[in-house]
Amino acid sequence: MQLNIALLGGDGIGPEVMAQAVKCLQAVEENFGHDFTFTEGLIGAAAMDKVGDPIPKETLKLCKESDAVLFGAIGTPEYDNNPNAKVRPEDGLLYLRKELDLFTNIRPIKVFPALINNSPLKKEVIAGTDLVIYRELTSGIYFGEKSLSPDGSEAMDVCKYTEEEISRVAHMAFKAAKKRKRKLTLVDKAHVLETSRLWRKVVGNIAESYPEVELTCMYIDNASMLMSLNPSQFDVILASNMFGDILSAQCNVLIGSSGLLPSASIGTENAMFEPIHGSYPQAKDKDIANPVAAILSAALLLNHFGLTDEFNSVVAAVHKSFRKKIVTIDVMGGTKYGTESVGDFIAANIVDVDNNLNINDENIDLGKSTII
Ligand code: IPM
Ligand code: MN
Repeated sequence: MQLNIALLGGDGIGPEVMAQAVKCLQAVEENFGHDFTFTEGLIGAAAMDKVGDPIPKETLKLCKESDAVLFGAIGTPEYDNNPNAKVRPEDGLLYLRKELDLFTNIRPIKVFPALINNSPLKKEVIAGTDLVIYRELTSGIYFGEKSLSPDGSEAMDVCKYTEEEISRVAHMAFKAAKKRKRKLTLVDKAHVLETSRLWRKVVGNIAESYPEVELTCMYIDNASMLMSLNPSQFDVILASNMFGDILSAQCNVLIGSSGLLPSASIGTENAMFEPIHGSYPQAKDKDIANPVAAILSAALLLNHFGLTDEFNSVVAAVHKSFRKKIVTIDVMGGTKYGTESVGDFIAANIVDVDNNLNINDENIDLGKSTII
């Protein structure tokens, strides 16, 4: 398959973890006979410093013309600590998501067996966790009207949703639930928020077209608590932009590190693949950042284009790195491996089972270790 992939490394550890993801995609190209073309674009603080805009027009054009976008991370302490900044690096990402109409953000959360002891939660609590969050990504409080009074003493962020905005992401979530354990949990705050009540109405109506899927509505505060008490009860979670953001960050605790979870942001015309983690500026250029979330985001890209064997082979290589303890310091203190060497190991272990005659125990996971 021929694919044009835009690479937006962004800020902090973004470019270095992205480089490992590209290494893995190149290994896929070689082993499976594909032809990927990579083109880099500027975004975030890196773009503001170079051209004064967190999402330059050229980047937007590149993303629109590409088959997919691979994104690294965004944000720097200079802007985080400046409440008066008029433009922020994050504006670049938000604008890009909106312009590409990436209305569904898919965040699969599956406990990695080899890392089950890494979570601060008990093994019995997290065992069997296999859920996916469908987060609305281009509306809600992130994109509503904002204002700050001239004297700076009053601020406002409007949370607005239309039926259409809810319905399109809801259909994506129901379709996913149909193929999984047929359980969908709508997470909201319907006892307080008008928008949540609209979500319940629209999602409730859509549920009638998916009789095989069991719909549960749950308040976000309760869902957040249950996510730590009994996460394996969840299958597909559907949430608005902000609730989905917060709940998915909480899932990092189940996995035991914030450097491991990928996501896919999907629209009708475009697709972007982005780790859930932030830009971790303290680790920038230290060769300690975990590249796995970026590598698994690249795997989701392959899956999006129907390259299932390729997807499985990247995931299997990641599992192997865990089993062999070839991991970064967030996963195992005292490790001698860094961003580069973990990326090298995973890339070197991406194999096409059909072409690999030396099938050994390491390949047993191949074909069944999907993370979605
Ligand atoms: C995420 C991030 C972004 C978000 C930030 C960087 C704007 O936290 O993708 O989860 O809130 O959507
Ligand atoms: Mn987040």
